[in-house]
Amino acid sequence: MERYLQKGPCHAAGLFSIFQPTMAKILFKKQMSSAVYMFRVEAPLIAQERKAGQFIILQTNKDNGERVPLTIADADTTEGSITLIFQTVGKTTTELSKFEVGDDIPVLVGPLGSPTHIENFGHVVCVCGGVGIAPMHPIVQALKAAGNKVTIIMGARNESLFLMKDEMTALADNIIFMTDDGSYGRKGLVTEPLKELCEDTKGKPDMVIAIGPPIMMKFCALTTKPYGVKTVVSLNSIMVDGTGMCGGCRVTIGGKTKFVCVDGPEFDGHEVDWNNMLQRMGAFKPQEQESLHRFGANDGHKCNIDKMADAKAKESK
Ligand code: FAD
Ligand code: FES
Ligand code: MG
Repeated sequence: MERYLQKGPCHAAGLFSIFQPTMAKILFKKQMSSAVYMFRVEAPLIAQERKAGQFIILQTNKDNGERVPLTIADADTTEGSITLIFQTVGKTTTELSKFEVGDDIPVLVGPLGSPTHIENFGHVVCVCGGVGIAPMHPIVQALKAAGNKVTIIMGARNESLFLMKDEMTALADNIIFMTDDGSYGRKGLVTEPLKELCEDTKGKPDMVIAIGPPIMMKFCALTTKPYGVKTVVSLNSIMVDGTGMCGGCRVTIGGKTKFVCVDGPEFDGHEVDWNNMLQRMGAFKPQEQESLHRFGANDGHKCNIDKMADAKAKESK
């Protein structure tokens, strides 16, 4: 039992009662695209407790690994497992992708964050892009269970990068695929069909939920604002403790300071100070590049790691 999460006093917090971190064995691993991996990990208590919209924080190294948040994409209470879907973007996610079935993730804690507010809103349009498709999956499941009509707009650079295409198609009342290169569905940005739906007197959404790269969420919120359609976004700011104490995930919402880990991750997209959030997300780029580079040198995977580090260096210029 000690390998699983247990409720009890948090040593770091002292005052708060939260879930204590422990190890989690990898039961299943699948590479979903060139840079996206799916793990099912043994975490029976999290599987029971989690709700749509919540996340875990893990470390790939118990003593000096950084803490990385990942959304709980699915859970199986019979197997006692949760599903994590992640993209390799830097040192820790690259290190995590090298874990194999049977390995223990040394530290995993959750469920964290406030669950998605679910009720019968009517017609909900769920916009998701890239690895944001994974966190949208449990939200669509919950919206459907509450009786909503759900339209999904999924975007990716090309067809090979669409995750969970069959699962999402099976859940949705309508699904629209958008690719940058036109290799599947329509060519263009997710905001194009979103605008069309907002203008459609019959199909106008009662609510929009957008999850994906911050720039995509920002433009979804800008698209829906003139039509007065409530738009919820799931923010992915940098997190450290995940309990509201370090201030790492601070964002400004409607002029007020909020912490994504405890007040979110979901917020009203029309209230988010996007420029502040985007600036804060890039605050540690040089250190992240250095860390990825050093990991590559020690790991013997220098070529790919160097390519990633170069890409990140270009991106931050
Ligand atoms: P780095 O090179 O260290 O960082 C790359 C970029 O990731 C940084 O520029 C920064 O913007 C962001 N980042 C870095 N460290 C953190 C951190 N500690 N916390 C948050 N962001 C960070 N990604 C997925 O692929 N799948 C998910 O399901 C998922 N869910 C998330 C849920 C939440 C609530 C949040 C806040 C983030 C989520 N992310 C998810 C993003 C994921 O946490 C980052 O991609 C990861 O931390 C990058 O770590 P790295 O060391 O590999 O990359
Ligand atoms: Fe520390 Fe949110 S991660 S306050
Ligand atoms: Mg990192």
